[in-house]
Amino acid sequence: MWKYKEFMPVDESKIVTLQEGGTPFLKCDKLGQDLNIELWVKVEGSNPTGSFKDRGMSVGISKALELGVDTVGCASTGNTSASLAAYAARAGLKCVVILPSGKVALGKLAQAMFHGAQVLSMDGNFDEALEAVTTLALEGELYLLNSVNPFRLEGQKSIGFEIIDDLGWNSPDRIILPVGNAGNISAIWKGICEFHEAGFMQDLPMMTGIQAQGASPIVNAFKKNSLEIETVEKPETVATAIRIGAPVSYLKALRAIYDSNGYAETVTDEEILDAQKMLARTEGIGVEPASAASIAGLIKLREQGIIDKNEQIVCIVTGHLLKDPETAINACSKPVKIKTDIDNLREILKQK
Ligand code: F0G
Repeated sequence: MWKYKEFMPVDESKIVTLQEGGTPFLKCDKLGQDLNIELWVKVEGSNPTGSFKDRGMSVGISKALELGVDTVGCASTGNTSASLAAYAARAGLKCVVILPSGKVALGKLAQAMFHGAQVLSMDGNFDEALEAVTTLALEGELYLLNSVNPFRLEGQKSIGFEIIDDLGWNSPDRIILPVGNAGNISAIWKGICEFHEAGFMQDLPMMTGIQAQGASPIVNAFKKNSLEIETVEKPETVATAIRIGAPVSYLKALRAIYDSNGYAETVTDEEILDAQKMLARTEGIGVEPASAASIAGLIKLREQGIIDKNEQIVCIVTGHLLKDPETAINACSKPVKIKTDIDNLREILKQK
């Protein structure tokens, strides 16, 4: 992503990178033909720590070095902490992460711990963890690297740059992505607008945000045509990455949706898990549940007629399948036990 460094507000001599960005951009004809659209999928799980957060952390940690801080921190549903822990390690900074107890997928927890962060498990949800870490940041204990930090968004806007670049300096009709704390949709829209203002493209995409039904304050506001959200006190969804009731960047996100003539919709946990499996089995793309919300949303909005036939659509899948191995294993039947006997193996294959 650093090929776009002229658009990033950092001191070039202090860039901390794990070579994030430049992720696969896959045309998905089977799924696209079923839905009568042209479908592209941007695979953010291919980033160094397995999610799009790495783009934001590369810029955020570079900035932390520029500012001369010694400790960085965040609250997280998992991916932000995994990414921050890795980039802090690379930069030689101390890292503190606060996680909602019992609600962080196993792969993400393993990453945060293994990269050497101080991992604190809070008896509360993400929104409460963010409030706590923000207080610590305001008291000067640490440099906050949640997406309220504008430098995070500066990195993540490169997803928008890459989509336009990948499409030969054209905008798709629509970009669909999952929304949690609402930083990413805001960042991508910022990137798109910067390229548009620079004259690199003519049209603009409709920004379309998808939330889980049990954690959907932004969709609720959109359905009321409002710029204000009502906090969801007890957010709940299988897609733990987007289990957020009080998204900090809600205003930027709603503006992105309204300004781009976009849309916002909810999907159920069942729709998310069905879409996750379908994407894995028809296109070979393994994503974590939150990421599949974009595909589930695409299917729903196509059925509802919100998405027109023949639209060119980019779905962003935000994190890798292995982030949440437990959910993946629970969605499958167990491996068949076999004896160390080739005849037995032949019998089993015949049964198919
Ligand atoms: N997809 C995944 C895999 C995520 O981890 C997140 C956010 C989102 C989508 C939503 O992005 O918050 O910018 O709207 N995860 C954060 C975290 C909250 O702590 O890892 P957003």
